[in-house]
Amino acid sequence: MKTALITGVTGQDGAYLAQLLLERGYRVIGGMRRSSGRSTWRLDALGVADHVELVGIELLELSNLQRLLDSTRPDEIYNLAAQSFVAASFDQPIYSADVDAMGVLRLLEAVRAVDPGIRFYQASTSEMFGAVEESPQRESTRFNPQSPYAFAKVFAHHAVANYRTAHKLHAMSGILFNHESPMRGLEFVTRKITAGLARWKLGERRTLRLGNMAAARDWGFAGDYVDAIHRMVQADRPRDYVVATGESHTVREFVMAAASCLGLDLRWSGDGLAEAALDEGGRTVVAVDAAFYRPAEVNSLQGDPGLIGADLGWRPTTRFEALVEMMAKADYDRLQKGHPLL
Ligand code: NAP
Ligand code: GDD
Repeated sequence: MKTALITGVTGQDGAYLAQLLLERGYRVIGGMRRSSGRSTWRLDALGVADHVELVGIELLELSNLQRLLDSTRPDEIYNLAAQSFVAASFDQPIYSADVDAMGVLRLLEAVRAVDPGIRFYQASTSEMFGAVEESPQRESTRFNPQSPYAFAKVFAHHAVANYRTAHKLHAMSGILFNHESPMRGLEFVTRKITAGLARWKLGERRTLRLGNMAAARDWGFAGDYVDAIHRMVQADRPRDYVVATGESHTVREFVMAAASCLGLDLRWSGDGLAEAALDEGGRTVVAVDAAFYRPAEVNSLQGDPGLIGADLGWRPTTRFEALVEMMAKADYDRLQKGHPLL
């Protein structure tokens, strides 16, 4: 039985990956940082909380990482832990870089010191392409990061490549494009939309305030993407791969698709800051709010998953419309049953 350590197990990807690895016969150790609240709701929702061995982990603390690797001796490490919200990284750039850049270096040093034979996966991101220099983006596309989150992830990406070359670690990074699910955090735009529109549908009439409606993303399903991650770690040759659907949609298109799933008939008016979506009664369901604009924006991302398809046989199973429907229905059902949206 192989042992995997997942850092960031309480996050969206951590929960789906824990589920997948347990199904594939792993002993799963889940790294969770200390918090004053209970944050295992995703593991609970996927029915795996009782099967994951939870351990304390803090990427800011090298001694903690070394002791943890020493005591657990994993065969594989999946480093998913991060301050992952791009917008927050503009307000907390030093903290974000300490976790997302230096935290990865600390973990690599711990691997090197404790057992350089451990396979190591790093959660890189399409945000590194930033103000894109070609479309679609692939493994060879130059990075042009536009946020502290993104430049911290570029540092980590290069650190992993260097440890692979210099110290012969079996280490790789997955350059994952946006991936979503009913387990997505409420601050990310997709879940903010499905939660907001589900509330409206059930009579809670609070206008949903969004930022850049024209931003476009290549949105896939998190359940598919953790399978891509696992394939990368099993490959004999460690290398970095882009993971994406190859399809891109705007925030506005996401709103329209979610509204249609929920049976909300929206009429659009205005543009720029005056853009709004109104319901049949002329009430403002969606409005634009400059507070949600970013100091520097990534306008459009679209990935080319050709290489991982050819090398590892990975393909996305869930297209945009099915993803939106899954998320909108999940939020509607939670609310209808009186469950809180977490
Ligand atoms: P997420 O839901 O925000 O989860 C992040 C996890 O990291 C949480 O478990 C969080 O713990 C933990 N964490 C944060 N700071 C930590 C620290 N200092 N020490 C230890 N743990 C810490 O993110 P996600 O969507 O699952 O994404 C997983 C990874 O993939 C992240 O590295 C993200 O940057 C990257 N990524 C995500 C996407 C995407 O579209 N989802 C795309 C590309 C790359 P708490 O629960 O206590 O907050
Ligand atoms: N969050 C948010 N809230 N985003 C909004 C809003 C809003 O009200 N209105 C428009 N947007 C736009 C953002 O400006 C951005 O262009 C786009 O919607 C997506 O924003 P997020 O859902 O916050 O995700 P992200 O693309 O910034 O980052 C996510 O994907 C990355 C991969 O490309 C995160 O999961 C990152 O951790 C991940 O690396």
